[in-house]
Amino acid sequence: MTFDLFDNLDSPDDWRGATGATEPLADGAVVLRGFARAQAPQLLADIGHVAGQAPWRHMITPGGLRMSVAMTNCGQAGWVSDRTGYRYDRHDPLSGETWPAMPAAFLDLATRAAAEAGFAGFAPDACLVNRYVPGTRLSLHQDRDERDLRAPIVSVSLGLPAVFLFGGLRRADRPARTRLAHGDVVVWGGPARLAFHGVAPLADGDHPLLGHERINLTFRKAL
Ligand code: SIN
Ligand code: FE2
Repeated sequence: MTFDLFDNLDSPDDWRGATGATEPLADGAVVLRGFARAQAPQLLADIGHVAGQAPWRHMITPGGLRMSVAMTNCGQAGWVSDRTGYRYDRHDPLSGETWPAMPAAFLDLATRAAAEAGFAGFAPDACLVNRYVPGTRLSLHQDRDERDLRAPIVSVSLGLPAVFLFGGLRRADRPARTRLAHGDVVVWGGPARLAFHGVAPLADGDHPLLGHERINLTFRKAL
């Protein structure tokens, strides 16, 4: 008998999902438990640089609502929303400048996670960075503004744990709920590429690296 499983846990609260486990979420979707944990300090330093160049902002939905998630982007294109709709833009509308380049550690992590999930050759050109504080939620939606839907989505969780909702291809499909902890990576593509997904309102907590925040990196091939 070995205690490796327990050695992998961050805290008694992290009872679910030892580092290294791959959990199926749906046909075409997996959670890679702890896959990004070792790189997290580097990723957080890089996020600081990205947000230094392209500051966090609350975008406005086409319906005129202010999103509770604060966002920024890096890569060749960034996801933006305003009264005219959702789109990918090569420029940050706040500054008119191109978005910060995708840090090497981001690209390395995203391509390795995709390959681990069965999507070898993933070449993301856009990374949406989402910041949640307690109470922030992201309602059920599809990622469908990307040109080539053959590429998967790679989504990295850092900081406070969240309840991720992962549904089917119809908005009315009841979503599965899975807890995403610091370092967990979700990859979805193929038959799950257009699955509805979202994040339940973030519960408060105090994370050793991120305090009262959760940050999510979502990698896409957008252009
Ligand atoms: C997203 O769907 O863009 C973000 C998902 C997450 O924060 O886990
Ligand atoms: Fe999404």
